[in-house]
Amino acid sequence: MKYLAMFPAGADRVVIQVLEGNNATIVRSDESSVLFTTPKELSADQLLFANNVFEILVVTKRKSIDGSVEKLVQALGDNSIPRSGTFRTMCHFDGRLAPMSPASRRTLERALARRGAKFTPRGGGSEFWVIGRRDWPDVVLGRRMDLGRKGKGAKGALSPQIAWLLASLSSPTPSDVVFDPFAGSGAILEARARWKYRELVYNDAEHNDASAKLRLRNLRSFHIDVLAGAPPVKNVNKIITDPPWGEYEEVGMPYADFTSKWWQSTASCRSPGGGSLVVLVNRTNESALIEALSRLDVEIERSAPLLINGHPAAAVCGSWPARS
Ligand SMILES: C[S@@+](CC[C@H](N)C(=O)[O-])C[C@H]1O[C@@H](n2cnc3c(N)ncnc32)[C@H](O)[C@@H]1O
Repeated sequence: MKYLAMFPAGADRVVIQVLEGNNATIVRSDESSVLFTTPKELSADQLLFANNVFEILVVTKRKSIDGSVEKLVQALGDNSIPRSGTFRTMCHFDGRLAPMSPASRRTLERALARRGAKFTPRGGGSEFWVIGRRDWPDVVLGRRMDLGRKGKGAKGALSPQIAWLLASLSSPTPSDVVFDPFAGSGAILEARARWKYRELVYNDAEHNDASAKLRLRNLRSFHIDVLAGAPPVKNVNKIITDPPWGEYEEVGMPYADFTSKWWQSTASCRSPGGGSLVVLVNRTNESALIEALSRLDVEIERSAPLLINGHPAAAVCGSWPARS
């Protein structure tokens, strides 16, 4: 199967890591799109990092928009054409919606309707997109997948796509006890709940009603300042979190001290059998966080750059050892 996915700009390194971890082969990528193949069909649940995903029907050499449409129509096999329902067409070139000429649009619509589907300009049915990315030598015709998205997340919350990427980086397993000490809206735990788990632990110093809204199975919630103490939980083997960045929310001390403090004060929560962590940090504090954790018991395994609403950040992944 071949797919093109569009995702939040700047998440390419993390997206590629996650896709390759799921047996995908990357054909091409840029800072906000990736063309890839998979041995098996993917479900919407495996594509939650993306804003839009297209199942690819045809790939041809890129020409002008109208020249590309002509080539795509020539190469379009019957098997990929819908037999029923309604559809409309879109064209997205170099990062924005772009018009096809009326003649090209009609040619494409006729080709897609030749097995019984009906064109409708209103939408509501399938969408077939002609997509050309700047600097890619090819263009694609793809059917947009329905990712079943609900509305936007809470204000200040991570987007569901980024939260899902962070959860993926933790290599979820069904026996995980997952802890987010700075959970805010709970977006990370909500994303993690897409996979099986044993228990989810929410904590945020703010007394908000976010955790009550989460409605997740086996969720325990606390409102504790983790610089001062730890929630009364044990056996956490995964920590996935997005601590304050010290930009919008002051942390009141050098970032390395802040990091050491919360890591040490939550030691009692962590499994003596070892575990792993994924921490989102702004790029300015990335090295302070890595140095602080490395001085303690954490082995840093990798750090992948990300942009969060245009702000440079990194997803830092590491592990703590089993206690002997
Ligand atoms: C960057 S936000 C996390 C946003 C979250 N990932 C989301 O998607 O909503 C950091 C959170 O840490 C909480 N926080 C700040 N200092 C804290 C502390 N000392 N102990 C526990 N929570 C704290 C803040 O209330 C805030 O909700």
